[in-house]
Amino acid sequence: MIMPLSAEDLGRVLEIERASFSDPWSLPSFESSLSFEDSCCWGWKENGLLNGYLIANACQDEMQILNVAVAPESRRHGIGHALLKHSIQWARNNQVGRIFLEVRSSNQAAIGLYRSFGFKPVYTRKKFYYDPVEDAYVMLLDLEGENEEAKSTGPDSQTG
Ligand SMILES: CC(C)(COP(=O)(O)OP(=O)(O)OC[C@H]1O[C@@H](n2cnc3c(N)ncnc32)[C@H](O)[C@@H]1OP(=O)(O)O)[C@@H](O)C(=O)NCCC(=O)NCCS
Repeated sequence: MIMPLSAEDLGRVLEIERASFSDPWSLPSFESSLSFEDSCCWGWKENGLLNGYLIANACQDEMQILNVAVAPESRRHGIGHALLKHSIQWARNNQVGRIFLEVRSSNQAAIGLYRSFGFKPVYTRKKFYYDPVEDAYVMLLDLEGENEEAKSTGPDSQTG
């Protein structure tokens, strides 16, 4: 079940974070994300145990997904999909036009997840990550473009 993350969840969040990344976020990074007004921080809990989270930031009509991870033992059970779906739905409901994220170029699991929602790579940030040094793909989901396309291909636009 998806719910807003709270300060009490951060111990478990850090556990998952450290098991998931070679360059994990620190506790203060999560604390400041929770404190920002523009932040969207959600967790996936089963029987009271947090097994995944997603941190995003929404400013005006843009959203940036900053962090997403699922506990290693809970992967491939649809939790990443559910968290991303929830975020995209939130974005649609809050007039967000575009969602951006960055991903390590070798991270096939995450790239597969993002592509399955229609995110497309728009450019590469060379040597963006450290530990190990690696390029980042910047990926975009253009919700505004989707709407425009739906309008132009919808029933009202069809002739004879
Ligand atoms: C990326 C991550 C969040 C995916 O979470 P998950 O709960 O395992 O993903 P789901 O089970 O919801 O999978 C959804 C889709 O993502 C893709 N996917 C997920 N894991 C994958 C893998 N190991 N290889 C290829 N594609 C994968 C598939 O398209 C999958 O759909 P399918 O199961 O129908 O094939 C998880 O692997 C993770 O926490 N990785 C470490 C942290 C990380 O890399 N975060 C992303 C930073 S940008």
